Amino acid sequence: MTVIPLCPFDELVDGTSRRFPLDHMALAVVRIGDEVFCINDRCSHEDFSLSEGEVLVEEKELECARHGATFRLDDGTPCSFPATTGVATYHVAVRDGMVEVTLP
Ligand code: FES
Repeated sequence: MTVIPLCPFDELVDGTSRRFPLDHMALAVVRIGDEVFCINDRCSHEDFSLSEGEVLVEEKELECARHGATFRLDDGTPCSFPATTGVATYHVAVRDGMVEVTLP
């Protein structure tokens, strides 16, 4: 496993998603209040950046901006069509004010 520091927690805007490009993939990091979620940035329906979508705060889901599929932020389960396949999520933590993601 690899732990990657992403940014200070304070830089994440509550209720929004931010894209973090890495070498071979990109992550969508979402802040809801004091919680932080990390999901693969690629929609499972088509190749589209999930971080461009809307955060559904009450549901704790991320909506794809292209066709409207939604995914649970805690485990990537698809909640609405047209997506039928989940998206990988990753363990994320805040350590000394810094958001860190753990990749397998
Ligand atoms: S590309 Fe995301 S729902 Fe179609």
